[in-house]
Amino acid sequence: MKTPRTVFVCQECGSQSSKWLGRCPDCSAWNSLVEERPLEAPGAAGAAAVGHRYALGGTARGSVRYADIEASTTDRLPSGISEFDRVLGGGIVPGSLVLLGGEPGIGKSTLLLQAAARFAETVGPVLYASGEESEHQIKARGDRLGIGQAPLFLLAETCLERILEEVARVQPRLLIVDSVQTVFSLKFQSAPGSIGQVREAATQFLFTAKGQNIPTFLVGHVTKDGNLAGPKALEHVVDTVLYFEGERHHAHRVVRAVKNRFGAVSELGVFEMTGSGLKAVPNPSALFLAERPVATPGSAVLSCLEGSRPLLVEVQALVSTSSYGMARRMAVGFEQSRLTLLLAVLEKRAGLQLAGDDVFVNVAGGMSIEEPAADLAIVTAVASSLRNRPIAMGTAVCGEIGLGGEVRGVPQAALRIREAEQMGFTRMLVPAANVEAGDLRATGDRAEGRAELLGVRSVGEALDLLLS
Ligand code: TYD
Ligand code: MG
Repeated sequence: MKTPRTVFVCQECGSQSSKWLGRCPDCSAWNSLVEERPLEAPGAAGAAAVGHRYALGGTARGSVRYADIEASTTDRLPSGISEFDRVLGGGIVPGSLVLLGGEPGIGKSTLLLQAAARFAETVGPVLYASGEESEHQIKARGDRLGIGQAPLFLLAETCLERILEEVARVQPRLLIVDSVQTVFSLKFQSAPGSIGQVREAATQFLFTAKGQNIPTFLVGHVTKDGNLAGPKALEHVVDTVLYFEGERHHAHRVVRAVKNRFGAVSELGVFEMTGSGLKAVPNPSALFLAERPVATPGSAVLSCLEGSRPLLVEVQALVSTSSYGMARRMAVGFEQSRLTLLLAVLEKRAGLQLAGDDVFVNVAGGMSIEEPAADLAIVTAVASSLRNRPIAMGTAVCGEIGLGGEVRGVPQAALRIREAEQMGFTRMLVPAANVEAGDLRATGDRAEGRAELLGVRSVGEALDLLLS
């Protein structure tokens, strides 16, 4: 057999080389050469393209009129874990390729093994290919998770071709590859985990997923800076990208969808790591508010929205006299530059004196918030700490703040209000724009347990209502 040939292609300018070079001879970019399979000769290219299309589930018959395509009823398959189904947009889509990224030790293998066992019990055989652990190690973990007699097949293998052979033999309904960085193809010379290998593996799994309708989960490692060879480069190949977030020192974990061709993006699933694996947390607001201090200055409750899910989190602020020449500003779980901006608005538009103070802001429970609707909570928490006056316990807030100190409307106000009401909050500060739009009681109207809604127009008005 002829040894398969590969070429090294510069990712910046596309020039090719037969061996790896540290610097591209054409465009002089450093470290830009990646191993790839060479393009086939023109005659073979047509045939390969047909094979391609076939592999993606279509046929070689040209274009089809939009109206003639029947809507395929994508019946989703349950993973058996409610919160996992939720991030996936309602279950596993047959033939989909999903990437689950996250730092080492966060719980990726645990979650997928649990899902694999449940799926095998209810739907059909599952193949779990692991390049990281032996069958015995996986079994030992499975015992902790209480996995019983299900058609779950384990394969400790890193060779891509061998894994695909096993897929053809077992004919699983679900394939799990842990992790994509350990898989290598015999056709490539580069080491497992290099970008060429990872891309080849993902592409081959994509063809298997689409061609044989086997949903596939790939585990991908991410380092602190978020881009080890792999996950980032794969995001456009796969249908869905999930990221595992959370701190190892906290028990709870959040799985977030950052891309999903079959569901809402930034959908959240919340889990708790226990002695016997991950447990779904159906009511995360209760979890995030569990250790909230009573009547302490500097604490505000925010009703935020993650994907389609409203969530209550506590925002804490501490303002203390600076002992150094330069005041420090620190934000955990919130963007630092946004905090600086909000503090400037507080000084200029609400007349607070913060220049000589250190300001620390923390989103409790290790959550991170990106929504602008969090602004009002940050600002009220800071003001509450500065004035040393607590915000009344049953109060929740939401609202975006502009540079003029105005409070701007937020999307889905009704959902946020309902979540606060369900958690027993009796008063809620919302942007006046939302009150005027009258969209606050759209869903799940309930006469009792309603919170008093206070529409605010400016930061000053909000602080007067909460802290005077
Ligand atoms: P793991 O799933 O191996 O992480 P990853 O695949 O993302 O690298 O497990 C991570 C951690 O979870 C590990 O430090 C041990 C802990 N753990 C529990 O606390 N309880 C359990 O039941 C299991 C299986 C693991
Ligand atoms: Mg693992």
